[in-house]
Amino acid sequence: MNQDQLKQAVAQAAIDYILPHLSRDSIVGVGTGSTANFFIDLLGQHKMEFDGAVASSEATAERLKKHGIPVYDLNGVNNLEFYVDGADEATEHLQLIKGGGAALTREKIVAAVARTFVCIADGSKRVDILGEFPLPVEVIPMARSYVARELVKLGGDPVYREGVKTDNGNVVLDVHNLHIVDPVGLESAINNIVGVVTVGLFAARPADVLLLGTAEGVKALKR
Ligand code: A5P
Repeated sequence: MNQDQLKQAVAQAAIDYILPHLSRDSIVGVGTGSTANFFIDLLGQHKMEFDGAVASSEATAERLKKHGIPVYDLNGVNNLEFYVDGADEATEHLQLIKGGGAALTREKIVAAVARTFVCIADGSKRVDILGEFPLPVEVIPMARSYVARELVKLGGDPVYREGVKTDNGNVVLDVHNLHIVDPVGLESAINNIVGVVTVGLFAARPADVLLLGTAEGVKALKR
């Protein structure tokens, strides 16, 4: 199977995982990226079986609406059973790097609200140690150089993602050459830098379920 077929398979597995738990008034949290897009396209086939969705980006909101799925403001939602999203890297502890698509802040917010975070990823995303994928950090624009200097002190090589503005109007620094042996500690340290909005390390709040697409089929890892 190629990478797209693996993404399709994990998207289908996520549908199979959440569907039995949905009712006509359920709202589903939906992530961003190519794997999440496969999920959205499948979710559209079941739109009569739940109420609507909360989106982690403007792009996802658009795609959901094209399928006729109502998109709600998270502030008006007090019960979110599932959040389904992809990842750039995932460990066996279900800790993740996310933000390759620059949607990390809204992704982290929706993940924080959801009771169950279902991560869907093709097998290439599975790593033993996080950090080979450059770690995205969303930053208030005027703090960019300061935050970059602080990230160097933490051992990384930040690179400004040219031409990218997040849905929140901020910029992204991608931190290269990290070997993240203490994901919770690094997440906290980066969050503490003034000017940082969000770091794309999902360690303090990892996924609850990881559906991993492999040549042998979809493997489910749980916390
Ligand atoms: C979006 O900002 C990211 O967190 C994505 O979830 C992540 O980059 C995975 O994207 P793909 O599914 O396209 O690999």
